[in-house]
Amino acid sequence: MHLEEFMKEIARGAGQIIKDGFRHVKSGRAKADRGDVVTEIDLASEKYIIDRIRAEFPDDRILSEECGTLGEGDGRTWVIDPLDGTRNFMMGIPFFYVSIGITRDGCPEAGIIYDPIHDELFFAERGKGAFVDYEQIGVSKEESIEDSLISVSWVKRKVDRRAFVSYVEDLSKDTSYFRRFGSAALVMAYVACGRIHGYMQGGLNPWDVAAGVLIVEEAGGLVTDFHGNPIDIRNPHIEIVTANPEIHSLLLNRVIRRKSN
Ligand code: IPD
Ligand code: CA
Ligand code: CA
Repeated sequence: MHLEEFMKEIARGAGQIIKDGFRHVKSGRAKADRGDVVTEIDLASEKYIIDRIRAEFPDDRILSEECGTLGEGDGRTWVIDPLDGTRNFMMGIPFFYVSIGITRDGCPEAGIIYDPIHDELFFAERGKGAFVDYEQIGVSKEESIEDSLISVSWVKRKVDRRAFVSYVEDLSKDTSYFRRFGSAALVMAYVACGRIHGYMQGGLNPWDVAAGVLIVEEAGGLVTDFHGNPIDIRNPHIEIVTANPEIHSLLLNRVIRRKSN
């Protein structure tokens, strides 16, 4: 089966499992990192995705949120978040996603983000543009921070939190349009199609952003860390600043200016 077709099929298959389990969660539990939760539906979605990949591409490496790394080397790697937005899911809030990225040497080559409730499928392959369903998408053309809808999200690690709050406090002098959605995949998909103008968050994991980074880039956006460097999906603690080039530069200058003060 063609790779794109395969990715879409497994994202939709996992999405169906999640949709069927929505508002019927039996067991939600906190993970080692306080604030992180997992349900039986995260695990069922993950098992389905991994079984399908193993059957079709037995030599590929897998990095998945709940089960860790399967396979050796640094070749083609599937980076999977079987349910992004588990807290929303557990609380009955209908915003959660399946996110699957394919990376090589830490660099995304293809990515898919599927919203099973609203049946929206975001997809990109490097060099081929980004799409929602079959429609090509692009980041917003907004140039002013004052009119921008910015998503910010608190980082989990205490050490980074104070600095992050200070960036947001600084930004709040220019815009009050802040949003916090509870799913990194959702925010990146929404930046890619122009529904949100910018996004900043630290303390992310590879599986939160592996698909989103490529989808935003292929939609004409920029994605960097807080220093302006490209994202390496192998990094276990990822910071994200993403937006169209104009808003990205304004956000990044803010962060860098705060850092150097
Ligand atoms: C979380 C969500 C959330 C983000 C956290 C992630 P999960 O993923 O993407 O928006 O703030 O950092 O861990 O646990 O729902 O897959
Ligand atoms: Ca996640
Ligand atoms: Ca997850």
